[in-house]
Formats: sequence, C-alpha cells, structure tokens
Amino acid sequence: MIGKKMEEALNSQVNAELYSAYLYMQMAAYFKHKNLPGFANWMTVQVQEEMLHATKFYNYILDRGGQVKLMSIDGPPTSFESALGIFEMAYAHEQKVTGLINNLVNLAIEQKDHAANMFMQWFVNEQVEEEANASGIVEQLKMADGQPGAVLMLDREMAARVFTPPAAGAGAP
Ligand code: FEO
Repeated sequence: MIGKKMEEALNSQVNAELYSAYLYMQMAAYFKHKNLPGFANWMTVQVQEEMLHATKFYNYILDRGGQVKLMSIDGPPTSFESALGIFEMAYAHEQKVTGLINNLVNLAIEQKDHAANMFMQWFVNEQVEEEANASGIVEQLKMADGQPGAVLMLDREMAARVFTPPAAGAGAP
C-alpha cells in the first residue's frame, strides 16, 4: 500500500508528464506548420515518450493500491519564435522535470518507501537521456545558425527518430 503523500506526489507527476506530452504536441504543430516534417516527427515521438511516462506512473499508483486522480492539464505556450527557441524551451522543460523526479526520489527516501525509490530509478536514468537529446539538438541548431540548407539537413535527420516502446521487464509500463 502506498502512503498518501507519495500517492499525491505521483498523481502530480502523472499530470506533469501529460503536460509534457501536451507541450510537445503543440511544438510538433509549429513544425508541421513551418513545413519541417522531420522536426515535427521528433516532437511527435516525444509525445509518445511522455505518454509512456504518464502511463508508467499511472499504473504504478494502481499497482501499489493507490487511487489515480487525474487533474486538469495546463495549456502550453501556443506561439514560438524559432526552432532554436523551441528546443531551448524543451531543454529547460526537461531540466525542470529532472528536478521533479529528484524530488520524488527524495520523498521516497524520506518516507522509507524503497519500492517507490527503486521504481523512480528508471526515470532518473531516463532524464539523463531526455536532457541530452534536447541539449544536443540545441547545439546543432546553434551551429546551423538559421541557414536554410543546414536546417533542412537537420530536419532530414530528425525524420529518422522512431518511438521504441521498452521491452517487457525493461521499463515497460
Ligand atoms: Fe517525461 Fe520528458 O520527461
């Protein structure tokens, strides 16, 4: 059985992950509108990643005998300046999410909830990748410096990203 404080915190994290999906869905729309289908694809895969994260927390609450309480999701920003601006925002967002995950680990330690602590370790690792992905693209876009040829080349690279659900037992929800 999960403690009330942990249940509340995990429900908030479901909301934070759903907000992340919402944010990246809005960013995908910007790229589709700007005829950059590769970047749009990257963001759409990111939406799937965030839905996976939300589902993992959702299932975990239920597996521990807790109650899932879905909350309203805030609207993301709806206008963006540039591809670079978007990825800088995505990177800052992922850093914020890392902070949320670290707070959950701290709470698990404080509550002596070893199971929750272990469950959260998957997310601790995942956030390293999430931050690295976003910051890598920020650096590439800085190098491209808005030159159309370079941005189009990057767009082609972004088209290759595919969503790979984790195998059963390896972080599958
Ligand atoms: Fe769910 Fe992008 O971290």
